[in-house]
Amino acid sequence: MTQTFETLVFPYLNHAVRMFESGYATAVDIDNAMRFGCGYPKGPLTVLDEVGPAVVRDALAARFAETGDHLHQPADLLDRIADEGGSFTAGGVGSAEAPRLQHEIARLGVVGTGTMASGIAQVFAQCGYDVVVVGRGEDKLARVTAYVTKNLDRAIERGKSDEATKAEVLGRLSVTTSRADLADVDLVVEAIAEDIAVKRDLFRDLDEILKPGAILATTTSSLPVTELAKATSRSADVIGMHFFNPAPVMKLVEVVTTELTAPAVDETVRALTAKVGKVAVSCGDRAGFIVNALLFPYLNDAVRLAASGADLTAIDADIKEAAGFPMGPFELLDVVGNDVSLAIQEELFREFGEPGFAPAATLVAKVAAGELGRKTKKGFHDYS
Ligand code: CAA
Repeated sequence: MTQTFETLVFPYLNHAVRMFESGYATAVDIDNAMRFGCGYPKGPLTVLDEVGPAVVRDALAARFAETGDHLHQPADLLDRIADEGGSFTAGGVGSAEAPRLQHEIARLGVVGTGTMASGIAQVFAQCGYDVVVVGRGEDKLARVTAYVTKNLDRAIERGKSDEATKAEVLGRLSVTTSRADLADVDLVVEAIAEDIAVKRDLFRDLDEILKPGAILATTTSSLPVTELAKATSRSADVIGMHFFNPAPVMKLVEVVTTELTAPAVDETVRALTAKVGKVAVSCGDRAGFIVNALLFPYLNDAVRLAASGADLTAIDADIKEAAGFPMGPFELLDVVGNDVSLAIQEELFREFGEPGFAPAATLVAKVAAGELGRKTKKGFHDYS
């Protein structure tokens, strides 16, 4: 264990305990979310059990005495388990029955042409579904086809696929600028701009276009799914399917149900998630869901550490080595985009009112300077 690991990872473990003790998600789903959404070798509650609840509690308590920051104050449950010598993960949760498709799902729709939309379309087409992708222009739609083609070519180069499979997958993918072409899909995933007004308009439109019984899913990472449900006359059929970047690789889908979502819709979406080779975790409609609520405060803490003059490359290397995370915090921030990270952090701050969640000043400054990460060739690291 290194100092960087203790400084950045222990508060994240504490935060996972708070989420668990609040009943927002099960221990298994919290651990699965971080494993399959971020590629971590182990989930936070398993790490806690391995490091030792008392070790983590004592280190956090010492830090809390210094900082007075509530994020460092050991969670009540951590305190109790540390005292009792218990475990967070012992016993599991029993064998939950595998979800089954409660709707016929053959033809899928994706709305959007960005990285997430392209990745999601690829996932569905690769798993044998016919997919209709709706975009605002032919040029944007061409980017979706190019994205999928590039990934399939890379798989061929690596000897993991062949030309015949590529042709089949691309053959199942159709693109259109007309939303009306979604009339016969069984489920549509929306992956357009993170703007509630724009998404609300889309859901109103989809409500008019889709056949009765079709499922309307959103891949929003920060907006309330309930608001989108209320924009339609079929709120029971609206659900969140939050994929992770890059969607063809990351195995997690957070399935977000609102108070209005029909249980059968939830079950079908969890079954579909499994059918396309992903792992579903269940969560309620709250900012950050599981992964972002645990990931972004940790990234924000790393940015604060950077502001004190720490060596970013060294922190990245240390975290990869000590925690086994696939990317260091600054490498990941640059992939996600500092603008996206700032928006998520602001949303978390608003939702939880936790002073330690206030976006780090350096993150705000990076966004103001247009240093957004890989997409602008400069973020925390330089890619020029
Ligand atoms: N699209 C499709 N496939 C990709 C890809 C991409 N952009 N990038 C990599 N891959 C594939 C490769 O083809 C390769 O596939 P095979 O194993 O079948 O050959 C596999 O992924 C591994 O790739 P590499 O060996 O080139 O690279 P790597 O080992 O460094 O892995 C990574 C890359 C999978 C992205 C890994 O670094 C990782 O897991 N990073 C963590 C990403 C993460 O935390 N994502 C969550 C961000 S938060 C979020 O998304 C939520 C939000 O709301 C903002």
